[in-house]
Amino acid sequence: MRLNVHLSILVFLLVNTVPSDANLLARSSDSLMKAAKRVHRRAAKRSAGLAKDLRRAFNGMLFQQQLDTSNPQQVYCVSGGGLKSSSGSSDTGSNGTSGSSPASSASGSASAGSSGTAKHSSTASGSASSPSPTGSASSSPWKLFKSYQGETFFDGWDFFTADDPTHGTVQYVDRNTANSSNLIDINSDGHAIMRVETTGQVSGNRKSVRITTTATYTGALVVLDAVHMPTGCATWPAFWSNGPNWPAGGEIDIVEGVNTNADNQATIHTNHGCTIPSSSSSALGISGNVVGGTNCAALETGNAGCGMVATQSNTYGAGFNSNGGGVYAMQWVDSGISVWFFPRNSIPSDLSAGAPQPDGWGTPMAHWPATNCNPSQFFSDHSAIFDTTLCGDWAGNAWNDGCAASTGVSTCEDYVKNHGSAFSDAYWEVNYVKVYQ
Ligand SMILES: *[C@@H]1O[C@H](CO)[C@@H](O)[C@H](O)[C@H]1NC(C)=O
Ligand SMILES: *[C@@H]1O[C@H](CO)[C@@H](O)[C@H](O)[C@H]1NC(C)=O
Repeated sequence: MRLNVHLSILVFLLVNTVPSDANLLARSSDSLMKAAKRVHRRAAKRSAGLAKDLRRAFNGMLFQQQLDTSNPQQVYCVSGGGLKSSSGSSDTGSNGTSGSSPASSASGSASAGSSGTAKHSSTASGSASSPSPTGSASSSPWKLFKSYQGETFFDGWDFFTADDPTHGTVQYVDRNTANSSNLIDINSDGHAIMRVETTGQVSGNRKSVRITTTATYTGALVVLDAVHMPTGCATWPAFWSNGPNWPAGGEIDIVEGVNTNADNQATIHTNHGCTIPSSSSSALGISGNVVGGTNCAALETGNAGCGMVATQSNTYGAGFNSNGGGVYAMQWVDSGISVWFFPRNSIPSDLSAGAPQPDGWGTPMAHWPATNCNPSQFFSDHSAIFDTTLCGDWAGNAWNDGCAASTGVSTCEDYVKNHGSAFSDAYWEVNYVKVYQ
């Protein structure tokens, strides 16, 4: 398609002309950005997803820029070992830990952000899929690598303070500012809170928070237990992960949507060569639906990525919140990448117990098999990220899909700047994030 050709060229130019300073980039590519914006708006009329995803190209690029130039103390732990095999496959070289659960023994005790290097355990026994006389808790193939929970939740994350790469009407603030502005907190339940500013009127951008784990991982089971997520017109929250040299390191979006969306979208974005073998839910073995195409290569399809949308309204936004939220789990193993969602009242006991056994969890909402996309080739050294942006390239461009009418405000930016009390629901309330390896 002509549109996609334009998008691809634009993204290609941007990615290949990255100067060494993020501000310089912003200035020198201003006209490209403007052109991109025009393309966005056209694209948005056809597909909000496409518009979102072009913006992701900027997102990934600037994210890397930020790491390289303005955060020199950021250290990437280089992964040593290979990925886990999924349970039951040819994991013959590994060694089980029969009799005790490594995951449950570590549960809740690892401090967030500890400076230890990544342990790339290859102790998966791979026995979860076969009956085990030693009991369920002993057969988790996963061992806790990082836990972010309670009073120390925020210690393992960097606060991103550059301009929002996705052009939202937000100002991301550092930890001290976030704290003194009441944007972050650990509440009486021990849950981490990340809000956006609710001051009635702001002259510039509205304050918000975007945080990135200092630890990185290659291959993982990432678990998010949240009781509330940002929702409402103008909001665009995400829980996702990104590798270096985007799109070479890949991107995995676990929780994402905009405005008053009811269904979560999970998406991967990659380098050239990664596709999914089908767009059929039954062929893929997923409960969600494929949106867009089957080519996940960011630079070849206007960065549409390979997106999969959930079918139940308790997966996202108001429906998620009214049900007490739930647990998202993203498994990244040799056989592929999968995302499960469990509503609050149906979280598997092994997961709650810190000894996760994904083989028993049933159909995932999303799955990108290794068939035509070897994870170890397309994904590496990811950091997990939370952000809440407002308007910008996706939520802003989708404003006319309902929010203009329901709010009576003609532009997303006007709504954000002048209706602070509308953002009282635009917060994350997180029980924990755990990264297993
Ligand atoms: C697994 O560990 C046990 C105890 O350390 C050891 O005796 C056994 O040889 C190991 N098996 C393999 C396959 O490495
Ligand atoms: C906010 O600041 C107070 C006072 O210094 C401190 O006790 C608290 O731990 C801080 N909270 C966060 C989340 O950083």
